[in-house]
Amino acid sequence: MNSAVSGKLAVVTGASSGLGADIATVLAERGCNLVLVARSQDKLQSLRERLHRDCGVTVEIVPLDLSQADAPARLHGMVTARGFNVDFLVNNAGLGAVGPFSAMNWERDEQMINVNIRALHQLTRLFLADMLASGQGRILNVASVAGFQAIPYFSTYAATKAYVLSLSEALHAELAGTDVKVSALCPGATRTAFWDVAGGGSNRVLNFRMMDCRAVAEYGVALMLSGRPVGVPGLMNKLMILLRRFVPRSWAAAVTAAVMKE
Ligand SMILES: NC(=O)c1ccc[n+]([C@@H]2O[C@H](COP(=O)([O-])OP(=O)(O)OC[C@H]3O[C@@H](n4cnc5c(N)ncnc54)[C@H](OP(=O)(O)O)[C@@H]3O)[C@@H](O)[C@H]2O)c1
Repeated sequence: MNSAVSGKLAVVTGASSGLGADIATVLAERGCNLVLVARSQDKLQSLRERLHRDCGVTVEIVPLDLSQADAPARLHGMVTARGFNVDFLVNNAGLGAVGPFSAMNWERDEQMINVNIRALHQLTRLFLADMLASGQGRILNVASVAGFQAIPYFSTYAATKAYVLSLSEALHAELAGTDVKVSALCPGATRTAFWDVAGGGSNRVLNFRMMDCRAVAEYGVALMLSGRPVGVPGLMNKLMILLRRFVPRSWAAAVTAAVMKE
């Protein structure tokens, strides 16, 4: 796997914590240079120092709020102005919010839609064009098992991840016959700061199923390099996705409502 990554360049969004930081670490350990993006400059800075020191790779940091409309174009402009040739784009930045739809404030929903959908869509569009021009590249879009069905009390988040999953699968099919691949990583509940931000971290069912973040990151990097369209890490998550195929969508939503209400 190292030869496929060493000396190449990856842009990783949401790299200041959780899955993004671990994906960046997995890539750096295999010799990949990095452009790391998130709002928290201090966290990006310390990750840059650690990865440069421990792995000897070049790491640029770009502190950026991806909920801002011009952020994807600014990131792409900065990367191209520096003459970087991006081999891997990891669209990982994202956030969720647990609660009844009618009780959520619009600013929070808008931020979720802007980061999870808008920024991911635009970054995919911008970097995909470069990859097609150079004839190769990999894009890893971080979706979720939540993208496979409606999730009451997590409705907007699940809808954003359904968008990511659908877009990624469609692009993967469009790109057949090229050496440019788009993959959707669909983790289930994973131990990161995500649940502190989203709320719902005390949910017993979710806690019971939490996967280790590093294991999900390793799975994600392997998925991206394989160029497969969709990957669901963890046996439990795979079984749940399989089971859902045999259950009416309305039943799945009703069962999930009970779990999320807990
Ligand atoms: N944890 C789970 O259970 C789980 C399950 C399935 C899918 N996912 C997905 O995995 C991805 C990573 O989440 P995580 O679990 O690693 O959570 P996390 O630890 O909270 O990380 C989220 C990352 O997104 C960045 N981010 C959030 N808002 C941003 C903004 N406006 N601009 C730029 N960056 C922003 C955060 O950085 P700053 O705050 O520094 O900006 C952080 O680096 C997300 O897309 C999430 O939906 C997570």
